[in-house]
Amino acid sequence: MYFCENFKSMDISTIEKTLLNLSLEERLQVLTQLFPQEKIVFSTSFGQEDQAILYAIASQSLPIQIFTLDTGRQFQESYELMDLTTRKYQITIDTFFPKTESVEKLVKEKGFNSFYSSVENRKECCFIRKMEPLSRALQGAKVWITGLRAEQSENRANMPIVEWDEQRQLFKINPLIDWTFDELNQYLVDHKIPQNPLHKKGFISIGCAPCTRAIAEGEHPRAGRWWWENSQKECGLHA
Ligand code: ADX
Ligand code: SF4
Repeated sequence: MYFCENFKSMDISTIEKTLLNLSLEERLQVLTQLFPQEKIVFSTSFGQEDQAILYAIASQSLPIQIFTLDTGRQFQESYELMDLTTRKYQITIDTFFPKTESVEKLVKEKGFNSFYSSVENRKECCFIRKMEPLSRALQGAKVWITGLRAEQSENRANMPIVEWDEQRQLFKINPLIDWTFDELNQYLVDHKIPQNPLHKKGFISIGCAPCTRAIAEGEHPRAGRWWWENSQKECGLHA
């Protein structure tokens, strides 16, 4: 059982029960009330889930810091959406880049596209461009909000709305974990939330450009991520 310093009477299951039957707005609002003294951060890759959460944070002016990990390999459309979103909601988003020396070394030793040659090489690139910057982004945070949904993959199917991340020593909150794709879509339409134009071209789950392709109708939503691999298709952020 893990206790939050400022909310000693609460354990994980109490937090879970508190959040479960609430709307997205309420979930986020309640979180800020449960952890008034703590640093709460939200990670966005500007996917559909992230855009919904970002809207719920911005429209209520909640004290939640928003960050993105710029791998340097994203789609031009994603960068345009980042700028558009920041302007539209007048919010600050902290961008974390990979360490220059690490990327320079990787490219010098293995070239620009080493990720295609093995899962090990792919994970090395994900580590340098995403995992290491993530650890800097989470420094000092007690609560980390993500856009994970159970429907997205087998790996995510049993993830709870709140979990204790022992390694990072923080609460990981997944406020959309129990949302269906239809619910999410409706929320985006109802609130006129800007979305990546690539979604309309068959890109459902969008990551780095060289590692994401469009999917055909009926294919699994994450089939376009690292499509050449037989792996679990995770970069390590949510392992
Ligand atoms: S991934 O692990 O396969 O890349 P996915 O794209 O499904 O993750 O996104 C799931 C959640 O991980 C997002 O809602 C977001 O919270 C976080 N995330 C993924 N990529 C990034 C990124 N580049 N920057 C910030 N957060 C990210
Ligand atoms: Fe590198 Fe591809 Fe991982 Fe992006 S998704 S960090 S380009 S391996």
